[in-house]
Amino acid sequence: MESALTARDRVGVQDFVLLENYTSEAAFIENLRKRFKENLIYTYIGSVLVSVNPYKDLEIYTKNHMERYRGVNFYEVSPHIYAVADNSYRSMRTEGKDQCILISGESGAGKTEASKKILQYYAITCPASEQVQTVKDRLLQSNPVLEAFGNAKTLRNDNSSRFGKYMDIQFDFKGAPVGGHIINYLLEKSRVVHQNHGERNFHIFYQLIEGGEEDLLRRLGLERNPLQYQYLIKGNCPKVSSINDRSDWKVVRKALTVIGFSEDEVEELLNIIASVLHLGNVQYGGEEGSACITSDTQIKYLARLMSPLNLEQASSARDALSKAVYGRTFTWLVNKINASLAYTDDSHKHYSVIGLLDIYGFEVFQHNSFEQFCINYCNEKLQQLFIELTLKSEQEEYEAEGITWEPVQYFNNKIICDLVEEKFKGIISILDEECLRPGDASDFTFLEKLEDTVGGHPHFVTHKLADGKTRKVMGREEFRLLHYAGEVNYNVNGFLDKNNDLLFRNLKEVMVMSENKILTQCFDREELSDKKRPDTAATQFKASLAKLMEILMSKEPSYVRCIKPNDSKQAGRFDEVLIRHQVKYLGLMENLRVRRAGFAYRRRYEVFLQRYKSLCPDTWPNWQGKLSDGVSTLVKHLGYKPEEYKLGRSKIFIRFPKTLFATEDALETRKHSLATKLQAGWKGYSQKSKYQKLRTSAIAVQAWWRGILAKRRAQRRRQAANTIRRYTFVKGFIYRHKERCPENEYFLDYVRYSFLMNLRRNLPKNVLDKSWPTPPAALKEASEHLRKLCMQNMVWSYCKKISPEWKHQMEQKMIASELFKDKKDNYPQSVPKLFVSTRLNGEDINPKVLQALGSEKMKYAVPVTKYDRKGYKPRPRQLLLTGNSAVIAEEGKLKQRIDYGALKGISVSSLSDGLFVLHVPSDDNKQKGDVVLQSDHVIETLTKIAICAEKINNININQGSIKFAVGQGKEGIIDFTPGSELLVAKAKNGHLSVVSGLSLSAVSHTLPVDLCCDIFLSWLSSRRLPD
Ligand SMILES: Nc1ncnc2c1ncn2[C@@H]1O[C@H](COP(=O)(O)OP(=O)(O)OP(=O)(O)O)[C@@H](O)[C@H]1O
Ligand SMILES: [Mg+2]
Repeated sequence: MESALTARDRVGVQDFVLLENYTSEAAFIENLRKRFKENLIYTYIGSVLVSVNPYKDLEIYTKNHMERYRGVNFYEVSPHIYAVADNSYRSMRTEGKDQCILISGESGAGKTEASKKILQYYAITCPASEQVQTVKDRLLQSNPVLEAFGNAKTLRNDNSSRFGKYMDIQFDFKGAPVGGHIINYLLEKSRVVHQNHGERNFHIFYQLIEGGEEDLLRRLGLERNPLQYQYLIKGNCPKVSSINDRSDWKVVRKALTVIGFSEDEVEELLNIIASVLHLGNVQYGGEEGSACITSDTQIKYLARLMSPLNLEQASSARDALSKAVYGRTFTWLVNKINASLAYTDDSHKHYSVIGLLDIYGFEVFQHNSFEQFCINYCNEKLQQLFIELTLKSEQEEYEAEGITWEPVQYFNNKIICDLVEEKFKGIISILDEECLRPGDASDFTFLEKLEDTVGGHPHFVTHKLADGKTRKVMGREEFRLLHYAGEVNYNVNGFLDKNNDLLFRNLKEVMVMSENKILTQCFDREELSDKKRPDTAATQFKASLAKLMEILMSKEPSYVRCIKPNDSKQAGRFDEVLIRHQVKYLGLMENLRVRRAGFAYRRRYEVFLQRYKSLCPDTWPNWQGKLSDGVSTLVKHLGYKPEEYKLGRSKIFIRFPKTLFATEDALETRKHSLATKLQAGWKGYSQKSKYQKLRTSAIAVQAWWRGILAKRRAQRRRQAANTIRRYTFVKGFIYRHKERCPENEYFLDYVRYSFLMNLRRNLPKNVLDKSWPTPPAALKEASEHLRKLCMQNMVWSYCKKISPEWKHQMEQKMIASELFKDKKDNYPQSVPKLFVSTRLNGEDINPKVLQALGSEKMKYAVPVTKYDRKGYKPRPRQLLLTGNSAVIAEEGKLKQRIDYGALKGISVSSLSDGLFVLHVPSDDNKQKGDVVLQSDHVIETLTKIAICAEKINNININQGSIKFAVGQGKEGIIDFTPGSELLVAKAKNGHLSVVSGLSLSAVSHTLPVDLCCDIFLSWLSSRRLPD
């Protein structure tokens, strides 16, 4: 409630107690209207719940809603039927006191729906075991069954309960529903035989006919057509669009099984329903005065029974029988359900109870009869109970809180209750007396007797006793009661009959003989033998009400007052006249007056202080002292006047709503400034804590990282120190040239390791790269091996890549190297020059020579200078090498052929000249002696000759001079001298003098061999390597 105090302008107040103008009916209705418009159908009067039927589904009965109200204080949430249900449940559990919820209101106001909602709330929110589930199911399923047999379509409500119902729900010590018990009140039996226009008989008849299986209907002798049955067509509307009898039948049929009806029991029950329908179709004929059944031969016995009666009497006897059969069957049904709901667990006899009373509210029609009299009497009794209990609890609260009792001005309706029920003097006693007395008692003698006996009562008026003004609105057959809720005129017609409610003895006798098991239970044989007259209807009702009051008095009550917003069952229509009428007859203004007689608002100190503490600097943000002192300080600060409030032991009582509202408005204003302050505070706080978090995180990361770095440094230092210390590094250095010993072994290993690691990083990149790290003494040999291996490796991988042509070139160079390296001066110059395959091509050689060579393949040709053996005259010639011989040609002439087999040897000087001598055997006549030749490419030419002639071992390199055969046993000599320029000439001594060219040979001598090698290699690498 507190939370909605601020929204009161739009949606009104949630509790009528807070209406400033609480005595104004208009203000009351305006509040209802405001709320109804906003679909707020529930409003409190204190703890009484006022409910307006919305005539539409409001989506406020979901499981979520149930959860919202579960275990929550009344005033913390908006008004709801669940709040009432939960409050009762909690009071039962915590205070251990039985509860009851009294639901009242006129027909169609929503009583039955409210009671169902409460039942559903318990079924869903209460704890449950498997066994409890069965009970829950039965409790819930008892509704459709009772509604089928006890509800009917009326003008006011398509599902109107035609009986009063009080239902106990029993809970075990754990709070689980474990059983139930139902008491029914005053079933409207007359409906069985008669319905007003636009109304129907009880639902079950139509459900059976519409929904019953073919087989079943055949067994019962029924047709699927309600128009065939007299009892179903009195109201002229056997079918209604808003009711689906067929599907309802299925629900009822299933419910009967859930409740525990056997198939036989169901069959017998339906047999009775069918018989009532058949009974209604019994028609009478006969001569005037006497009745006989004309319609069906099978029930001739009925004719016998009715024979002494006239037509009217026979019909009413038939109807009386129908009513009695139906009424008693209904009671049997209730008992049967009770048996199924009974709490059977003997081990825990004790249980708590919540009672639900769904009973007719005040009824005021144009014509009010015996039924309305009973109903309104019932409501007087309930009002009496309400007053007693409310005032009592109010008084108890004042006493408990130590507040002096202030008398409450209210109307006590005990006087009306007494008028109706007092022994000997009350209306019921007088009615009974008239019913029982011999003689010609009638409804009118009853009225006269009333006038005689209670004529002077302030709440009783008849036409005769009334003043002129009242007389105009009263009939002569009426008496008026001034009920607490308003005046009602009752027409006495039928009072005696209805009160007697008699059934002919012979009809009872027949019923006792019935084979139907249900009927034998309904019509007891003992009843026949009992000579005592049964109690009249009014007395029975009075007794049952007295019992009900006893039951209710023993419990703590909650009230639900239902209001119907319009007569057309429409959603959203708020018919003010109709509602004012109900507000009056439900006694709501009276309720409010009683509730407001004391204080409008009361709350426990802690709740009040908690809500409003921010309005006083002394109590904000927290009050440290006693709660009552805190509240006292707070209200004084707020300027409450002494007459506006009282402080009890645990609660504050505020007399006027306006005081509370002023406080509430102040809170609303305060909330804004508080919210801003809180927001600012919170923002600052959250930013600060965010910053703090960031900062500490950064510091943590920094510290961690610094730690890691320091640790690493320390570790390295430690390692170094260890190395120096533990492995006696220094000593090792000193002993490094000594044999391996404990002092130096680590050092030596370390040096080795360092060298190898260094070598790994600095290996030569190619064969020309001569760099190589200097090894430590201990590793010299290994280093050398490694270097070779490395070179081999590089050469090997280089060689793998070279082509066959290059290989051939290299092989020739190798041979040349073997022959001339370090032996002949001009060898180095030949190294970087490629050997060519031939120095003379086909076109350079005379064809005649080629012809003369015939098929011999020429392998190499080079221009040479031949020196005559005698005069040493130089002559240009061509030297041709074939597979078999060396040939010397001049122009087209083949001058000399030397077979390789005949070639004895080859001589050459060690100097840098190009002269060489081919030695041939002197005894060969074909030859004219050894041949002296000079080639510009002497190394290449000689290598080729050595290869072709396979004379590698026959090359002589001479120092100083060469002897050669001239022919005929003579010999010539060639003298070689180093010189600056090549000069070949015949010397005076007859020798051939050769001064070798100095320039080249001098250079070659000065070039180290390695360098020459390098030149070769660099030449090699400058070539594009083959892929
Ligand atoms: N809370 C509700 N929400 C939606 N519809 C409702 C509600 N209460 C009642 N109704 C509608 O009003 C109809 C009449 O309600 P209900 O049968 O409970 O009236 P009643 O007070 O028991 O009447 P009677 O005295 O004739 O038995 C319901 O059938 C339903 O259509
Ligand atoms: Mg009802």
